[in-house]
Amino acid sequence: MTRIIAFFNQKGGTAKTTSTLNVAAALVERGRRVLAIDLDPQASLTMAVGVDIAALDASVYDLLIDETVEIPDVIVPTTLPGVDLVPSHPDLAAAELELLSVLERERQLDYRLRGADLSAYDYVLIDSPPALNVLSINILIASTDLIIPIEPHPLSLMVLGRLFETVNRIRRLNPRLRVLGFLPTKVHHSSRLASDMLTALAEEFPELDRLPSIPLSVRSAESAAERVSVLNYMPKSSVAAAYRDVGAWIERDGEVVTIGEAPVVAGRTPDLGDD
Ligand SMILES: Nc1ncnc2c1ncn2[C@@H]1O[C@H](COP(=O)(O)OP(=O)(O)OP(=O)(O)O)[C@@H](O)[C@H]1O
Ligand SMILES: [Mg+2]
Repeated sequence: MTRIIAFFNQKGGTAKTTSTLNVAAALVERGRRVLAIDLDPQASLTMAVGVDIAALDASVYDLLIDETVEIPDVIVPTTLPGVDLVPSHPDLAAAELELLSVLERERQLDYRLRGADLSAYDYVLIDSPPALNVLSINILIASTDLIIPIEPHPLSLMVLGRLFETVNRIRRLNPRLRVLGFLPTKVHHSSRLASDMLTALAEEFPELDRLPSIPLSVRSAESAAERVSVLNYMPKSSVAAAYRDVGAWIERDGEVVTIGEAPVVAGRTPDLGDD
């Protein structure tokens, strides 16, 4: 079964796009095949992997609003070896309104993914917009796993209540959805903010795992300008090493057992409360 992992947080700038790109590169280094899906109208991931938006025939926008469009119709190659992309387009910003007239508008991504032959890919990684809207709900219904990138900032924790409320509601529609854990990003090793946030996360969400932290590195942002991954641009950097650890973490977690109706990680049932 192809795992569908979304990098999800309605807060902006938490390194969702950076993490989607670099985790994709890390999984490819491990011999996996990855399909990335850009569900953000900002199309940052699409541009970061070298796709020319102006030259696109179709994008994820067409996939969501036109039922005759299938996933293979919109896949394009990228500058990241081993990673294909379902690109975004600024038109996607209009999708919320246009989907109003589409029956089961929250399930469109799920239907397309279920209808597609994804056997060429081990992982589908989804980059989410900084919002809780119909695009985000499409992502939550279509995904098997969520990773929540989070920045060391006092405001970062405040959005989590709303996020988990939404996730719990979606569980009724998508019982296989698991929260894999928090991915602390842009972490300055000597910053009190970071250690305070990690302590607060552990206290407030003891049942959720913490993935390997991604260090703050201004230089790593240059890799996006070069349309390559940090693993490629600065292979020996601490950021590259951290994303490799995240790739290994995801693969270790790969053994999923089914207890009752909801698939859970062996030995662990993420309990996010019952709203
Ligand atoms: N480890 C890091 N160290 C320093 N800067 C980083 C790091 N990771 C990402 N950034 C920078 O932080 C900014 C936000 O990152 P990114 O675009 O990946 O976040 P995002 O969550 O996708 O944002 P949005 O919510 O707007 O989609 C970018 O300028 C990016 O280059
Ligand atoms: Mg982004």
